[in-house]
Amino acid sequence: MMEKTIAPGIRYIGVDDNDLDLFEGQYIIPEGISYNSYVILDEKIAIMDTVDARKGGEWLANLEEALEGRTPDYLVVQHVEPDHSGLIASVAEKYPSLQIICTAKAAVFIGQFFDGKSFNIKTVAEGDVLELGQHSLKFIMAPMVHWPEVMVSFDAASKVLFAADAFGKFGALEGDLFIEGTEDWSCEARRYYFNICGKYGAPVQALLKKAAAAGPAIIAPLHGPVLRGDLSPFLALYETWSSYGVESEGVFIAYASIHGGTAEAAERLAEILREKGCPKVAVSDLSRDDIAEAVEDAFRYGRLVVAAASYDAGLFTPAYNFLHVLQMKAYQKRKVALVENGSWAPSAGRVMKEMFGAMKDIELVAEPVTIRSRMREADIPALEALADAILA
Ligand code: FEO
Repeated sequence: MMEKTIAPGIRYIGVDDNDLDLFEGQYIIPEGISYNSYVILDEKIAIMDTVDARKGGEWLANLEEALEGRTPDYLVVQHVEPDHSGLIASVAEKYPSLQIICTAKAAVFIGQFFDGKSFNIKTVAEGDVLELGQHSLKFIMAPMVHWPEVMVSFDAASKVLFAADAFGKFGALEGDLFIEGTEDWSCEARRYYFNICGKYGAPVQALLKKAAAAGPAIIAPLHGPVLRGDLSPFLALYETWSSYGVESEGVFIAYASIHGGTAEAAERLAEILREKGCPKVAVSDLSRDDIAEAVEDAFRYGRLVVAAASYDAGLFTPAYNFLHVLQMKAYQKRKVALVENGSWAPSAGRVMKEMFGAMKDIELVAEPVTIRSRMREADIPALEALADAILA
C-alpha cells in the first residue's frame, strides 16, 4: 500500500496513467506517467490541482477518501494544461462552495477550456498568501515554466514546495511516491525537462532563485515522485539544465541514414572517438530511436556530431526534424561537427550549417566531412581529423 502522507496534513491524491499512448500527443511514455494532486487538510481544506479527465473516477475517489466526509474550501490551480485541470468543472459541481485560487491568466484559460461554465474564482499574484490554519500557502509566480499562467505554492509550515510541472518526470509512480537522490530520477526527468521546458531556461532560472530563497524541504511536482532528503542534487541538475550547461563529458552522435552508408560512417566515428579516449560516446539513429531522447542527449553532452544523408537537394528528413526541434528548444552553447553523405550533389552539410548558424553560441569545430554514397577507408583520415576537432 502506497504511503500517501507527504507531510503532516498533506496527502497525495494523484493517479497513474499507464494507458496513454503519447504524452502531450508526441512523447512516448513506456513507463506511463503520473498526474499528481494533493490535498491539505487543515481548518480550511485546499486541493492542489486536479488531474487529467481520463482518470476522473479514480481521482474523485482518492479525494473523497482523503476528505473523510469534509468539504473542501479551495482548489488551487497552479497550471491549466488539461493533464492537471481536466476535472475543475467536475469538482466545482460536486462542491458548489469551492473557491478556485489561480492567477489572472489562469482564470482566462479556465474560461477557454470550460466554455459556458461559471466558477467562483479568486485570483492571486506574487507573494499572496492563503491561510488554511497551521498551513499557509505563499504563491510564487512561475510564468513560462512552461505556460504563462503557471504559479507554484510554498507551505511555510511543512516547507513543501508544490512545484507545478517543474521537477516533473515521465513514469508512473507504481506505489513509490518518494525519491531521495537523482540516480533513478535524472534519466526520465531530463527527457521531460528538455522536451517540455527546454526552451524556457531563463524562466526556470528565475523560478529556481525564488524557490531556493523559500528553502523547501520537500518538492511536490505535478508528475513523478515527490523529492525529499537532500534536495541539492536535484536543484543542481535543474541549475545545469536551465543554464544550458554541460551535464556529462562525452560526445553525442546523431545520424540519419537512408541506405546504411551514413550509419556506417557514424559508427566508425564513434569507434575513433572511443579509441582517442573520449569518456562517453552515445549514438542515436534518428530514423528509429526516440527523438525526445536524442534531444535530451544533445543537451546532456557538450559535444554533438550530426551525420546525415542529403535528400531532395536538402537534408534527410529525420535529421531535419531533429535540428528543427533543437532550434525550438533553444539549443545553445555546444560544439558541433557535421558529416554529410551525398551520391551526386551533397546538400546536407549546407542545410545543417544554416540551421546551426541560426542557433546561439554554437561552435562548428570544422567544415563538414563529405562522404560519397558510402564510407571508404580513404574517408578515415577526414573522420580522424573531425574526431580531433570535436575533442579539442
Ligand atoms: Fe503537466 Fe504542462 O502539464
